[in-house]
Amino acid sequence: MNLLSDDLLAWYDRNARTMPWRGIHDPYRTWVSEAMLQQTRVETVLSYYDRFLSRFPTLASLAEAPEEDVLKQWEGLGYYSRARNLWLGAKQVMAEFGGVIPSDPAVLRTVRGIGPYTAGAVASIAFDIPVPAVDGNVIRVYSRVFGIRTDPTVPANRRALEELAAAQVPVRRAGDYNQAVMDLGATVCTPGTPDCSRCPLSARCEALARGDAADLPNLPLAKPPKEIPYGLLILFSGRRVLMRKRTEKLLQGLWCFPMAEGAVTPEEASSFAENRLHLKPSSLRSAGHARHVFTHRVWEMELFTASVSPEASAPPGYVFVPSDEFPSLALPTAVRAAADIVSSGI
Ligand code: ADE
Repeated sequence: MNLLSDDLLAWYDRNARTMPWRGIHDPYRTWVSEAMLQQTRVETVLSYYDRFLSRFPTLASLAEAPEEDVLKQWEGLGYYSRARNLWLGAKQVMAEFGGVIPSDPAVLRTVRGIGPYTAGAVASIAFDIPVPAVDGNVIRVYSRVFGIRTDPTVPANRRALEELAAAQVPVRRAGDYNQAVMDLGATVCTPGTPDCSRCPLSARCEALARGDAADLPNLPLAKPPKEIPYGLLILFSGRRVLMRKRTEKLLQGLWCFPMAEGAVTPEEASSFAENRLHLKPSSLRSAGHARHVFTHRVWEMELFTASVSPEASAPPGYVFVPSDEFPSLALPTAVRAAADIVSSGI
């Protein structure tokens, strides 16, 4: 039998998806693409990647940019800590490595935001170093091909899978090989029902032989995300809107409207404005409902609009943003519906 890598590379040569970050050997571009692709579909990343690189064409230009600009380019892509870490990592590479992205995966891992997966992806794709890049797709493919039925979220089991993955990487074309596994996982060996009839590894797949490919990897049942009700206030003061730059881990650095947990009736929203924001709202109105699902929680938002005095000063931690500056703020998708209400009024 051929080596697994021979079969996969032959399949990749015929079936590789065309992507703008492929066929280049530029570690900065690989790093940007891999940061964007974590937890995010290729189709979504496509519209962000070129725009991001036009705005920040080099590592140095990214390192020198204000954080706000980086978050603005990432707006809508989600998991914003990836953007901040990429920016902080770029600064670190400028300061510690003279602006040269290291090729050694162990050194790459010392850079902010670069974990084992990204280190393996950058080293193999940009520098052809034969190391694995183990993500969810890779875990699924190997669990099935090798019939691994242990839970990969248990650290010792995960380590065993990583060692198995490392042993498969060919000495030549490591980057292509890793991307072949990713493509196979994304297009053929998919979660749910895999399309085994199109798989170049079907003859050697232990799970297919046993008939339980669709059940692997053996992941624990995910807990449903927790639903949290909020009242979200759109407070106008003349041509200004009250906003807050988030300091919480979730959506850190992004701009949000004042939000009060549990304040879902007009009365509760009004008393939040008075007692917590020390602002006197007039003509408070319901403005609909919005829902946003994060990985571990769901925001169920009742939207309210109201006016406060044009001379009001913002409470601590908040800013009255002039409406002409509103479009330049980095806003999370979670508050898009509220932002559209503001934009339609300015
Ligand atoms: N997912 C993460 N990185 C990828 C890549 N380089 N190609 C395809 N899918 C990916």
